[in-house]
Amino acid sequence: MNNPESQNQFVPKQAIAPTPELYDELVIDCMEKLAAATVSHLTPFPNGAKIHDNGCGTGAATAAIMSFISPAAKISINGTDINSRAIEIYKRQAAEKHWPATAVPMDSTALSYASELFTHSIGNALLFVLPNDGVDAVKEVYRTLKPGGIAALNSWAYQPNMEPIQVAAQSTRPAGTPLPRQGMDKWLQAEFLQSVVEKGGFERQKIKMVQSEVFVELGDLNRYATMLWSFIGGTSAVGWLESDEQKWEEAITVVKKELKKSQGTRLLDGGKMQLRFVANIAIATK
Ligand SMILES: C[S@@+](CC[C@H](N)C(=O)[O-])C[C@H]1O[C@@H](n2cnc3c(N)ncnc32)[C@H](O)[C@@H]1O
Repeated sequence: MNNPESQNQFVPKQAIAPTPELYDELVIDCMEKLAAATVSHLTPFPNGAKIHDNGCGTGAATAAIMSFISPAAKISINGTDINSRAIEIYKRQAAEKHWPATAVPMDSTALSYASELFTHSIGNALLFVLPNDGVDAVKEVYRTLKPGGIAALNSWAYQPNMEPIQVAAQSTRPAGTPLPRQGMDKWLQAEFLQSVVEKGGFERQKIKMVQSEVFVELGDLNRYATMLWSFIGGTSAVGWLESDEQKWEEAITVVKKELKKSQGTRLLDGGKMQLRFVANIAIATK
């Protein structure tokens, strides 16, 4: 679920397991807001729209789509994700919330769908977790869209919670230790997302690029910092270090301190903290 770069099996005893449940608690409503911002750049879904929620996780993009459509709209949604546990949670939500949706485990880089099946495909916070920068997955998106079909894909242009993790890693690990999510910087540029979508088969002049802000309110800061360090702290090319267990509290303290001083955070009335994210969004027509 958290895309580790190493096979190292050691995990500090304080780390919370990176389950879909932890992911949901950690992202709060950030993924749904990112999906809502993305979907808001689409024209309304017509009756009969057949939508692929690609790398659906537990269903944030489907939830955003359902808030966007009129109650009478007749659409269908196919969720797919490589994580079977996330698919189970998606299916439970779909049943509880009466989504017109089904979900199955499937690899985005090798979809088992027929070509020209979908009118829309949304990949919310997906491409940057995939191999080959998501190009193989975009090729599959292109193949499975009908002519004139629309893909909505995004990446982060700014994430206020990445630097605190990297500063915590730098200040609690030996110099030169690879940093978690070190290779992510290229995704900050809208041009990089656009080039991936183009390499996947979409014509450049049919790719509209936009940016949107997403604001998220944190609950308990200590819990948030612990979840963040647990989820991402051990994902570098070397994984967790044995010393991370002794330095656990030190790392959490650094994460909290850096979050507080980040330019993307704001203290709200009542003492709660708000994080500001910025998304790059590509709306591409086949
Ligand atoms: C950052 S999460 C976003 C999930 C969801 N779209 C959302 O908005 O909450 C990335 C998702 O991609 C899934 N994933 C990773 N590699 C995948 C692959 N090869 N094929 C399909 N899904 C994949 C993960 O399991 C995870 O659910």
